[in-house]
Amino acid sequence: MNYTSIKDIDSLSDWVFDAIKIKKNPLKNKKLGKNKTLGLLFFNPSLRTRLSTQKAAQNLGMNIMVMNFTNEGWTLEFEEGAIMNSGASEHIKEAAKVVSQYCDIIAIRAFAELKNKDVDNSEMVLNGFLKYASVPIVNMESATGHPLQSLADAITMQEYKTKHKPKVVLSWAPHPKALPQAVVNSFIEMMQLQEANFVITHPKGYELNPEIVKNSNVEYNQDKAFENADFIYAKNWSNYNDYGEITNSDPNWTITAKKMQLTNKAKFMHCLPVRRNVIVSDEVLDSENSIVIEQANNRTYAAQLVLQKILENEK
Ligand code: CP
Repeated sequence: MNYTSIKDIDSLSDWVFDAIKIKKNPLKNKKLGKNKTLGLLFFNPSLRTRLSTQKAAQNLGMNIMVMNFTNEGWTLEFEEGAIMNSGASEHIKEAAKVVSQYCDIIAIRAFAELKNKDVDNSEMVLNGFLKYASVPIVNMESATGHPLQSLADAITMQEYKTKHKPKVVLSWAPHPKALPQAVVNSFIEMMQLQEANFVITHPKGYELNPEIVKNSNVEYNQDKAFENADFIYAKNWSNYNDYGEITNSDPNWTITAKKMQLTNKAKFMHCLPVRRNVIVSDEVLDSENSIVIEQANNRTYAAQLVLQKILENEK
């Protein structure tokens, strides 16, 4: 069993229920991971994913190895038949097989480079490990998805929702650096498995991959989208069509207290890290309706559920 996409979840409601059970007694399965090793491979920086996944593995009694490929590992080659006479020192074929001998589960973070849409959509790093590793693979944010984040988001919404079918708004917000679409892609896929009035709002021209958005409701007027919302999920993404470009940095899209007043006292969510007073104003982020810290806390229980399911499956 791998966990590389929201599509790996057979029943979102069951998974959320199980994760909330784990949260109540996180050390219950402390023996499940005894003598098992989780390898965390990072091709990009992290705070939450690294520490929460490590914490989750510790709660299951696992050993953990962490490797940062940005400054510690050999540069990897992913192309079949490559003549490796330039930068890359090691091919994924050897690297994945070697790491599989040391680890019982491999978790990988490898962001989109935002230079070439086809290359990013090919998920070269994640698929390279899926192809050549002989142990289960977990996606800790790939070029196109962040399914551990969106499972934590689902857990958080379940904890805070006050009605069966809340209005959930995913809002684009400005950002000075070009960011991938991975978080929002998985959030949308997760919301499509939920009973909710789900609305995506972004400036015209910032349309996401239509194969992911499908029939989800898109509203270009942010104020209109916010009306009576129960949850506001803010996130920047760079332009998907004008791939990887920043074609809009309109500060009117920043989430402010005035905008939140249009909502039904909505809870504010963001995956973090967040740029204060660019994505969201201090007063919103510091308000009692901001649930970003609990959202980050739930990263541990999302990861723990995924690791637990994999360990149980491998028994
Ligand atoms: N939300 C999230 O993935 O945080 P990190 O990038 O810090 O891991």
